[in-house]
Amino acid sequence: MSTTPDTKHPQGASKVGLRELVRMKSEGEKIVMITAYDYPSGRHADAAGVDVVLIGDSAAMTVLGHDSTVPITLDEIVMLAKATVRGAKRPLVIADLPFGSYQVSDEEATRSAIRMAKDAGVDMVKIEGAGQTVSRVRAIVGAGVAVCAHLGLTPQSATLLGGYRAQARSAEEALQAVRDALELEAAGAAMIVLEAVPPIVAERITQAVSIPTIGIGAGAKCDGQVLVYHDAVGISTGPRPRFVRQYATAGEDITQALAAYTAEVKSGAYPQPEHEYTMPADELGRFEATQHLSAT
Ligand code: KIV
Repeated sequence: MSTTPDTKHPQGASKVGLRELVRMKSEGEKIVMITAYDYPSGRHADAAGVDVVLIGDSAAMTVLGHDSTVPITLDEIVMLAKATVRGAKRPLVIADLPFGSYQVSDEEATRSAIRMAKDAGVDMVKIEGAGQTVSRVRAIVGAGVAVCAHLGLTPQSATLLGGYRAQARSAEEALQAVRDALELEAAGAAMIVLEAVPPIVAERITQAVSIPTIGIGAGAKCDGQVLVYHDAVGISTGPRPRFVRQYATAGEDITQALAAYTAEVKSGAYPQPEHEYTMPADELGRFEATQHLSAT
């Protein structure tokens, strides 16, 4: 764990800590979060000046090719988180606890969170929902691991929510979302992700809690925003949710590059002499003189 604020990282910039994020909230400076799943995406996020990196269980879909976030295992996220942490030195790093690793009991949740902090070296874990999740937050924080909550559309329970759809659209559900946020804060949550809720609901929650809120499809009034890496850089497959803004077409660039490579290998245009290693002339002469030796 490295939540200590103002720790210098190797490039000289300060490691982002919880105090820094609370300062940003109080001064109205927006917090930038992006998902990352491996060493290169962690490095990209760090180099871009992102504040918080999330190893999301969206990796189940973006990296592992599943249809939902449900199948990914704790072992798989720990492996991805270890690699991401090596790349993302300055940002605060959060990892999702996957479905099935915290639902059954406070003890199981605490064990999973400790594993994530100890083995993967992340600064915080994220768990979804309210209700029994409140007790999980209390238990994990009590064990010394910081927790980010996640309200609104919680993909691990998408079936129960009626699919991947916006939440808290009735007055009653909106009020419940505000109550849930307050309960999660009181239980010790250090941050809350708000996914696919109307902006007025996100704004009310943001005003009601003293911890930072990070929105995804929750409007501009949250303390920060999060996007999925693959959506932001344009390497996603499948339908794009309405809240996504795509900042690059890296997927097209990669496919074009691989098509050019394929064409050049097929045509013989690659490799060229500048891609080869030479032998000293005397060694070459000796080798050529003996190259007709048989194996026997
Ligand atoms: O897993 C994930 O990518 C997430 C973000 C959408 C917040 O939870």
